[in-house]
Amino acid sequence: MIEVKNISKSFGDLKVLTNLSCDISVTGMTVMVGPSGAGKSTLMRCINKLETIDKGSIKVFGIEVPKKRNDLIKFRKDIAMIFQQFNLINQMTVLENVLIGRLNGKGFFPSLFKKFTKVEIKMAEMYLDKVGLYDKRFNKASELSGGQQQRVAIARALIQKPKIILADEPIASLDPKTSTQIMDLLSSIVNEEDIGVLITLHQIDYAKKYADRIIGLNHGKIILDANNSGITLNEVLNLYEMEDVNFNDNE
Ligand SMILES: Nc1ncnc2c1ncn2[C@@H]1O[C@H](COP(=O)(O)OP(=O)(O)OP(=O)(O)O)[C@@H](O)[C@H]1O
Ligand SMILES: [Mg+2]
Repeated sequence: MIEVKNISKSFGDLKVLTNLSCDISVTGMTVMVGPSGAGKSTLMRCINKLETIDKGSIKVFGIEVPKKRNDLIKFRKDIAMIFQQFNLINQMTVLENVLIGRLNGKGFFPSLFKKFTKVEIKMAEMYLDKVGLYDKRFNKASELSGGQQQRVAIARALIQKPKIILADEPIASLDPKTSTQIMDLLSSIVNEEDIGVLITLHQIDYAKKYADRIIGLNHGKIILDANNSGITLNEVLNLYEMEDVNFNDNE
């Protein structure tokens, strides 16, 4: 469970998140939607402490997001992240990129001298097989298409053996067919690997198709929080667009 309590976050004068609270289940797929600038990425980055909150508290699996760097390394061990731009190392092979996932949760110096064991290499190959890229394992990451690169990023997340994957717009750079493949893959991970996924999307239709739960954010506040089965696509669309158009700071 991710417990977010009364958090606020500003960048200079810009208030991005205001007194925001929510509990996010670590099982299933939670999709966060909302207009550009709503604060979705900021919230996700605060959960993983890529940003620091100004006020409030965030607990992940009962543990407060730590302040000390050493504690942070341990804390992040259970949390994997996937990005819109894949964030692979282009000059490394696909297999090496996946193995990098094993370094998460270790300090910088151990990572520097880390040699991967045969077991770890087998694991990397297994996850590459799971995402359908075993045959590409010796290709450089730069030689892969966007959808393939995102699948490598998913394999890199899986080898970390996380309890939750945070995915910030993982399909924003992909065409509809590839987007569906990636969402199907994430969905299978939720079901087969028992890993929770918190994902931000702009495509409400995908949110509706894949989410167990939908959280709508606008101007740093939660305006919708519902089980997917309890709401219609139009209800999500209405709330999303109405709040976006009619928002008034003075209300
Ligand atoms: N590091 C930063 N420094 C200054 N302002 C920032 C920083 N990160 C985000 N912001 C601002 O905070 C606001 C919220 O940004 P955020 O990236 O969380 O939005 P978002 O909901 O993820 O939007 P999008 O759907 O476009 O990705 C925006 O106005 C953005 O410009
Ligand atoms: Mg964003």
